[in-house]
Amino acid sequence: MPALPYDMFDLERSAADARRFDRVENIYHRGQDLAWDGRDVLERIVTKHGGVHVPPAKQDALRRVFGPILWGELAAWKISAQLADRLEPLEAKMAATSQAHDEARHFYVMHDYLTLALGAVRGSTVRMHPASERLLSMVLESDDLAQKLMGMQLQVETTALTIFQHAREARICPVLTELLPYFEKDEARHVGLGTQVLPMLMRGMSRLESARLSAFSLRITFWLLASNRAMEPALRVLGLDPRRVLMLAKSKQTLVWDEVWRATEKQVGVGDAVGRVMEAIASGLWPPEDQRGLAGAFAHGLGGGVDQVATTIVPDAPEA
Ligand SMILES: [Fe+2]
Ligand SMILES: [Fe+2]
Repeated sequence: MPALPYDMFDLERSAADARRFDRVENIYHRGQDLAWDGRDVLERIVTKHGGVHVPPAKQDALRRVFGPILWGELAAWKISAQLADRLEPLEAKMAATSQAHDEARHFYVMHDYLTLALGAVRGSTVRMHPASERLLSMVLESDDLAQKLMGMQLQVETTALTIFQHAREARICPVLTELLPYFEKDEARHVGLGTQVLPMLMRGMSRLESARLSAFSLRITFWLLASNRAMEPALRVLGLDPRRVLMLAKSKQTLVWDEVWRATEKQVGVGDAVGRVMEAIASGLWPPEDQRGLAGAFAHGLGGGVDQVATTIVPDAPEA
């Protein structure tokens, strides 16, 4: 096999696929247009607020929630670089490359913010819980591109988006509140990469391969729930409701799955299964409360297109 894929432009495309690839290519161009300078943005926000102000009583909880987020950004950087290397055709490669560029920025900006908030970041003090480590290593170590897209872009990134959104609303620190929308806008584009490219990979799958992908997705759901559970005390100290984080994450995942299944023209149904598992476990873990309106808050507007997906998943993030 040659080292370079000289036949990458040889495949005929249907009109529907051509439109989908245009949207995928647009992820790259939008990423370039909306790229922000992490050094300038952080410095401007810190200066505006006269420094980083995390109340001492919340510092350990910040470390326990945003430490895993920091390492999650590094995992997302590695996984998007793996996708950039292996995904074809050109448009998907471009979108994954753009994501790798974004994730590098997320990693160094989160590192610099945590250094200001908590002091020097050291591997011995800012660590992942074993459940979160297991979650990310499953996606990192999988050789299967569909599993990587499902695990990172559709499951881990939608959950990270939920934590960012909820943490922004909790107003833990004015610098963090103003910084998080920059992350949210980028992450929504990354979810768009998953919703556009995964259906094309899934269409070529046998029943066995589809079943394997569903099983992988359920395992990721299990470890997402375990990570959420491990972070529960710290989430509460920061003013975040773990049940609400989970239900919001479920709502976002259900929406992107709906989009994926519609485009795949296959009745695989894993989205339903994962949604039911998340809901059942949430009910077991936390006392039931009225969740009316929560799922409905996101349940519109996913008619297709990365921008619509992004707007729906980040309903009130300001324009970058
Ligand atoms: Fe990120
Ligand atoms: Fe991301």
